[in-house]
Amino acid sequence: MVRRPFSSRVPSDRCSNALARAVADARASGRRLIDLTQSNPTRAGFEYPDYLLSALADARGLKYEPAPFGLVAARQAVARDYARRGVTVSPERIALTASTSEAYSLLFKLLTDAGDEVLAPRPSYPLFDHLARLDGVVLRHYDLEYHDGWSLDMASVERAITDRTRAMLIVSPNNPTGSFVSRQELRRLETLCAERGIPIVADEVFVDYQVRPGACVDAGRVLDVDQGLVFSLGGLSKSVGLPQIKLGWMAVAGSSELVAEALDRLEHVCDTYLSVSTPIQAAAAELLSRGAAVRTQIQSRIAANYRTLAEQVEAVPSCTLLVADGGWSAIVRVPSIGTEEELVVGLAREGVLVHPGYFFDFPHESYLVVSLLPPEDEFAEGIAGVLRHVGTS
Ligand SMILES: Cc1ncc(COP(=O)(O)O)c(C=O)c1O
Repeated sequence: MVRRPFSSRVPSDRCSNALARAVADARASGRRLIDLTQSNPTRAGFEYPDYLLSALADARGLKYEPAPFGLVAARQAVARDYARRGVTVSPERIALTASTSEAYSLLFKLLTDAGDEVLAPRPSYPLFDHLARLDGVVLRHYDLEYHDGWSLDMASVERAITDRTRAMLIVSPNNPTGSFVSRQELRRLETLCAERGIPIVADEVFVDYQVRPGACVDAGRVLDVDQGLVFSLGGLSKSVGLPQIKLGWMAVAGSSELVAEALDRLEHVCDTYLSVSTPIQAAAAELLSRGAAVRTQIQSRIAANYRTLAEQVEAVPSCTLLVADGGWSAIVRVPSIGTEEELVVGLAREGVLVHPGYFFDFPHESYLVVSLLPPEDEFAEGIAGVLRHVGTS
């Protein structure tokens, strides 16, 4: 038989699962669906001011001046955005990317060889599996534990480290647990990783979104780290609700000698792709400042929906809402009457879409993950449907 001419970076099993089929059937039926998996802010009923994109017509976009880390003015704007949150970083330590996902790929190229390992939290964001695999990297997990709040299981981090570990990924606040990496946890990770020469890659895309007021006060500040090597990732897709603009960034901190070499090497990687378009770089400062109008709406929406969720779940003794400190999602523990898959497929048939915990690698069943982005009335109606279904199945 002739060999199939494809790499194993793309999985051979790409079939849709039972949930995807149930969702496709529900959509095809034309019935009304309440989508509590909606994580695309541009489809969640927020008002995007008309003037938001006017900066994309800036005449600076007509000139091509290739710069591996991006135009200085755009990097300065990102530095000001960190300063808005009280974080100091020099524009020289910032590189622009087309998205956070691309930043991961560039960092895997900088830090790993094929077959090397990176550590990622569990439960977390399912895209990590694909991002790692597409760059020939092996993903290993450490655990987040829940006891009336999430914490990082340090023993599982130590167990997961091998002599092929090349990066420690942290997500703060994490998707879907909504947990920030605390100051104390970051200090311990910083020491552990610096001793072993393992860089920390901190995904902070949701950092502007606190569900519990004051939650981020206790959060570790990765760019204050002054030993080892640390990268902070962010982007417009979450910070101002503009995923379609395709602008992300990474900022580097740590020991000055390592930072200098990392930047030098990273410049080579970024120079190979030069992936961020000039009009977007020229518009970055305006998008970051004007986008605050969208961010504020998202902040109040997620807070309102989390309150509604807490009230509704409180009234159903068999269900528990897990504490979320930040981010765009929330988790409800529900009774394990059937499998999570049966539950979410049943809900899809009744017209409510939710994610099962296993999508995010929860260690056991049964959890449902809901997005806090949908419009308040739809969200309340969808959650009522979920709780009715769980209570009567
Ligand atoms: C934790 C996390 N990081 C990164 C991303 C993707 O961000 P970007 O659109 O900048 O690639 C997501 C998207 O949902 C996410 O949940």
